[in-house]
Amino acid sequence: MITKIFYKVLIIYSLIFHLDLIAQDKYGISNEFHLKNRNNLRDQMPENSVSVLFSNPVRNRSNDVYYSYHPDPNYYYLTGWREPHSVLMIFKNSLKDSLGSYDEILFVRERNPYDEQWNGKRKGLEGAKKLGFDRVISKKSFSQMNFNFETFDKVLLNPFQTDVKDIISDESDLFDLQNQLKGKINYPDGYDPEIFKWYNRIESVNNKDAEKLKNQLRFYTKRNKHILNDKIIQKFISMDTEEFMKETIRKSSYFIPDFNFNFDLLTKYLTNQREIKSTEEIDLIRKAVKISAVGQSEVMKAVKSGMSEREIQGLHQYIYKRYGAAHEGYPSIVGAGENSCILHYITNDKTNVKNQLILMDLGAEYQGYTADVTRTIPINGRFTPEQRQIYEIVYKAQEAGIEMAKKGNSFSQIYEATKKVALEGLMELGILKDPKNLRTYYPHGVAHHIGLDVHDPGNYGPISENMIITVEPGIYIPEGSDCDSKWWSIGVRIEDDILITNSGNENLSKFAPRKWKLIEKTMSLKSPLDKFNLPDIVN
Ligand code: GLY
Ligand code: MN
Ligand code: MN
Repeated sequence: MITKIFYKVLIIYSLIFHLDLIAQDKYGISNEFHLKNRNNLRDQMPENSVSVLFSNPVRNRSNDVYYSYHPDPNYYYLTGWREPHSVLMIFKNSLKDSLGSYDEILFVRERNPYDEQWNGKRKGLEGAKKLGFDRVISKKSFSQMNFNFETFDKVLLNPFQTDVKDIISDESDLFDLQNQLKGKINYPDGYDPEIFKWYNRIESVNNKDAEKLKNQLRFYTKRNKHILNDKIIQKFISMDTEEFMKETIRKSSYFIPDFNFNFDLLTKYLTNQREIKSTEEIDLIRKAVKISAVGQSEVMKAVKSGMSEREIQGLHQYIYKRYGAAHEGYPSIVGAGENSCILHYITNDKTNVKNQLILMDLGAEYQGYTADVTRTIPINGRFTPEQRQIYEIVYKAQEAGIEMAKKGNSFSQIYEATKKVALEGLMELGILKDPKNLRTYYPHGVAHHIGLDVHDPGNYGPISENMIITVEPGIYIPEGSDCDSKWWSIGVRIEDDILITNSGNENLSKFAPRKWKLIEKTMSLKSPLDKFNLPDIVN
């Protein structure tokens, strides 16, 4: 009886609270949002500088097949433009031409009826003008632009994408646009932007931080040995710091080539902006997360022993599309048993899953913004005592982490709160013998920003209002671990998306059951997908 009432309440609740998911909106955010982002970037730029950004390449899958186009998030954030082969210029100080003054130019590809018949409509210059730019110009004119880039104190760039294909029939595709800019700024052949970033840091470091920078560089070179071949990097590392810091030596072109382009600042400014979400962004992320959370809850009802990882992945993704999300925001992670212990497992090819936990880390991307939600459930609907004990530790760790996800706190406070619970729990169960080895079973960070990217840019300083971050502790005990074999192949991650508010936080993914009892109850409910029977295909 109680169970029946529970079912009814849950169904009515679902109907009332998820109706908003059905409505389809027009794509994206207002022009004002993107304009404000450009103005905020300009405010941070140094005097007499220009930012030059390129759209993402169209990526080849194989032969004549291409991946569906995904705009570069920074580019989209600043423009609202979602087509390839485009350049954005933002000037710190206004310029003048015969039409008046302007401080930005968007270069876009032209319309092309033949290509549009095969690959879909292009917005063209007219469409771009509707975005509200000072100047919209055909990309064909980029090479003829007669700016003297040497007159700018700084040309701010993101590292050039290297997987850009030259389309022979187009003399102003992204490949050409990049090369045209390289010519204009005297970009040396074969230059490594990574090394150049370090030059910028070396050039601008003050005496107090020089030793620290040297240590960061040494640490970086452990994994990126190739940069040690660079003479300037070698000198900075090997020379006495005090001696090196003498202005005349450091600034001499013998050490630092005198280029005016910079690959550091743009990332820094855009990180400052993107880590705090606007009201409109929050609305879209809220929707992406809700779709994902409802997906988790519906999949809990629909999964059955014997299903494959891929099938379960498909159920989530079908639900995303039903609610208008174009696709997932990152490759879906659906891993059962041993596979639940592989942190970014995306093979998802295990069939006939039985009596095991299945870890489902998926996020719908809705109008460019992605969720990142994980639930771990027993495929047969009942946790074993061992599975439940590990689940409970992760659940309590997550509760402690969410409690710390508050304005003014630090990201490390979130991590430390979760770690304390995980450590105590694993020691108590005798799985962990030495606290020093916690990372064996508790290997990853527990919080990151989400937004246009699943791992959105962030400074990871104090937590502030209108950040949206994950809290995602996980314990993974692969086969062969140094503990009783009854714990093997148990991997549990619970991940929620948390909006930081003025007074605390809001769990945007709360619609996905999280307590083990509620998961079991939800899994016992009927699903509309129970009736989705397909014919057998033998051969
Ligand atoms: N889905 C990747 C992550 O949780 O960070
Ligand atoms: Mn995550
Ligand atoms: Mn995740």
